[in-house]
Amino acid sequence: MTAKLLAYHQPRLEGIVTVPGDKSISHRAVMFGAIAKGKTTVTGFLHGEDCLSTIDCFRKLGVDIFVDGTNVEINSPGMDGWQEPKEVLYTGNSGTTTRLMLGILAGTNFHSVMTGDASIGKRPMDRVTKPLRQMGALISGREGGKYTPLAIQGTSLKAIDYTMPVASAQVKSAILLAGLKAEGTTIVREKEISRDHTERMLKQFGANIEVKDGVISIEGGQELYGTHIDVPGDISSAAFFLVAGAIVQNSEVVLKNVGINPTRAGIIEVMEQMGANLTINQEKTEAAEPTATITVRTSYLKGTTIEGEIIPRLIDEIPIIALLATQAEGTTIIRDAEELKVKETDRIAAVVTELEKLGADITATDDGMIINGPTSLKGAKLNTYGDHRIGMMAAIASLITDSPVEIDDADCIAVSYPTFFEHLDSLIK
Ligand code: S3P
Repeated sequence: MTAKLLAYHQPRLEGIVTVPGDKSISHRAVMFGAIAKGKTTVTGFLHGEDCLSTIDCFRKLGVDIFVDGTNVEINSPGMDGWQEPKEVLYTGNSGTTTRLMLGILAGTNFHSVMTGDASIGKRPMDRVTKPLRQMGALISGREGGKYTPLAIQGTSLKAIDYTMPVASAQVKSAILLAGLKAEGTTIVREKEISRDHTERMLKQFGANIEVKDGVISIEGGQELYGTHIDVPGDISSAAFFLVAGAIVQNSEVVLKNVGINPTRAGIIEVMEQMGANLTINQEKTEAAEPTATITVRTSYLKGTTIEGEIIPRLIDEIPIIALLATQAEGTTIIRDAEELKVKETDRIAAVVTELEKLGADITATDDGMIINGPTSLKGAKLNTYGDHRIGMMAAIASLITDSPVEIDDADCIAVSYPTFFEHLDSLIK
């Protein structure tokens, strides 16, 4: 844990950033490449701590994974050729690794134990263990399987028809991955659409998966086959510079390789609604995951209401959207976002506490927050709570404060954006 003093003295921002690989998609490329028989190659992989945790888990299952920067090669005998791990599978800070691995390990023929860091130890895993147990999974763990460490005895599974109680791509993906191994057709029904990278990528690995009107069906007993995955840049990482470009005076920032899958791109819609000056040039429109180059310029912003179906499409961007709202004229209301309480930290409490220290007019509610703007912000010592996205929000806030900001932990940012400060420094003018 390294503290960092951020003394940028109200700069202007100008330049080009090529956004690093998408975290959600990088995890899945490794996981599905390990499930698949043969060779999978990945380009644009996010070399961040969370995705490296996923690689580490599969190496312990005997999968051969070679990493060279953002290129990854996976050679797997297929799931049936994996070995029982001799060590505990350590998932670090990564909820995606922990939850998706549960769905995968449930259908093996061996025993495994998974645990993560202190933050993972507080995050609810029963949202995954419950539906998996309905499929026949044998999972035990702390508080009846609610928290890590979790022990999984692989067994044969049966399909379920499951209506999602919360919008969660991690839960959905765990069930679909268990469904790949289960007897019968597994159906997942979503009331609100969450990120659909699993559905898109399973097709790339040759799986037969049907998606229609929020209903996803996957037949059990299918094999995946090695393929090539080109990971787009992470819109959740781009989000920090999208907001920075809009709120820092006299700025123009070009973000290249931004993944704009509609199930992830809620922040673009919200920024446009708030009046942000964005130019979007679509690039790979035909790819499994579309991308764009986005230019953002300093903007006059107005408050808005963010609620309902858009929430799962921007859930990880809410901390930085809250900062954006402190610079917008009028009131911004964020509702229906209680899921923020079970992220890497309670992000409603963390965002409100830390932005208040900077002088923002912000109030926590049960399911979100209310922000009045615009307010000028002052320097302060901020807590990241070990949460990468709170750390990056604090760093972007420091660009507009009247005096320096100190964050208690700059290292946590490496979970999703190890080159964040390098990219930020390259934009400072
Ligand atoms: C993710 C899904 C989301 C998101 C997380 C990554 C994924 O979590 O917040 O950062 O890769 O599937 P939930 O499934 O809990 O909503």
